[in-house]
Amino acid sequence: MKNKRKVLKNKNILLGVTGGAAAYKAVDLVRRMKDEGASVVVIMTAASKNFITPLSLEIASGNRVYSGVFDDPMSHINLPRNADLMAIAPATANIIGKFANGIADDLLSTCLLSFKGKVVIAPSMNWRMYDNPIFQENLRRLTAHGVMQTGPDRGTLACGEEGIGRMADVSEIIETIKSAFSKKDFFKKRIILTAGPTREYLDPVRFLSNRSSGKMGYAIARACIRRGAEVILVSGPSCLKQPQGLKSFFRVETAQEMRDAMFKRLAETDIVIMAAAPADFSPEKKEKAKIEKSGKLSVNFKNTPDILSEIGQLKNKPILVGFAAETGRRLDRAKKKLIQKNADMIVFNNVTAVGSGFDVDTNEITIIRKNKELSLPLMTKDNAAEAILDAVSDTMKKQAKSGPIQRLRANHRRRR
Ligand code: PMT
Repeated sequence: MKNKRKVLKNKNILLGVTGGAAAYKAVDLVRRMKDEGASVVVIMTAASKNFITPLSLEIASGNRVYSGVFDDPMSHINLPRNADLMAIAPATANIIGKFANGIADDLLSTCLLSFKGKVVIAPSMNWRMYDNPIFQENLRRLTAHGVMQTGPDRGTLACGEEGIGRMADVSEIIETIKSAFSKKDFFKKRIILTAGPTREYLDPVRFLSNRSSGKMGYAIARACIRRGAEVILVSGPSCLKQPQGLKSFFRVETAQEMRDAMFKRLAETDIVIMAAAPADFSPEKKEKAKIEKSGKLSVNFKNTPDILSEIGQLKNKPILVGFAAETGRRLDRAKKKLIQKNADMIVFNNVTAVGSGFDVDTNEITIIRKNKELSLPLMTKDNAAEAILDAVSDTMKKQAKSGPIQRLRANHRRRR
């Protein structure tokens, strides 16, 4: 599978591992960064070696692991000079305290002080330490200087207590690192995204739905956040974790609820992207009690609101992107949807092609605009999301140049 859009390709990352219980996760983190195309060099603090061996990280990174200031006399200058980004995971209260106060008494803290690029920290500690106002002051100081923080999460901590302090998931740390390298062409753009299926109830326990997992829509949400947008995600039922950094999240069940949640926020929105698979039909009547099994059942259906079309008819409509899930390569049907629904773009999705469509991590899409068509090979949904946003960004630029309405909308938003 072609995967040309690795955000971390050719990036040099200097990873600091400090003495926290989550240190063992650094091996997975290093592997995932390498999968994304990065080259990783690890610096371990003395305390971290109580939790994990340098050999594990040397094998995972394929590079020498550094630790002492005097092991290699100029490493505190050379390592940061060659790095595009520094990440500290796990980041203990100790390293955060040192960094916030300019203390440089070991290799990692010295490197942090001499480094000129973006730094990502993934705090990890007991909740009592995390809550401590002195620690919080240190954290605020770092984030005010542009240090990017990811996590910590709430949950069971190493000591057995419940609370905030678990290191963020490795996938969230990767997401923050990717975001540090992403262009910000959607900075402050308000985007409503839909994802997942809807459920149209027959009775309190049975419903009509489809196989959408939400993966495509959530991948677009993450890409929008990385590129600086303010994202409102309206999601049907999905097992996926909410992307970090959303402006708001609406959990809905039915197509009507999806429509209502979207219309509440539509006035302040620049772009709408509908990757959800809302049902087209809903039972005319929802029974109050579970339908008994007695002979034949016949159900009458009514149409659900066609949300995409409704938004397409609005006078000052936002940039509107729909999807077309088709069985087979029916580009003609997708093109018809572009016109009928007055969308700016339709993402054609052959949901019967292998590895494409519902509930898989990959997709094969064609991006259709009025005078443009871009067929892409099978790729990860993360990469498909980036390609869709590139096309939206291009449309945005063109509309800003030519469309008075879009210019007015943009100016109005800017003034507020
Ligand atoms: O969630 P995943 O498992 O990752 O799967 C991804 C996906 C296959 C669901 C996604 O890539 C996709 O193709 N989404 C569109 C599914 C769909 O409903 O297609 P459609 O051709 O029936 O609808 C056309 C457009 O109208 C879509 O943008 C849809 O969101 C929208 N629609 C549909 C029904 C409805 N009542 N109102 C709508 O606005």
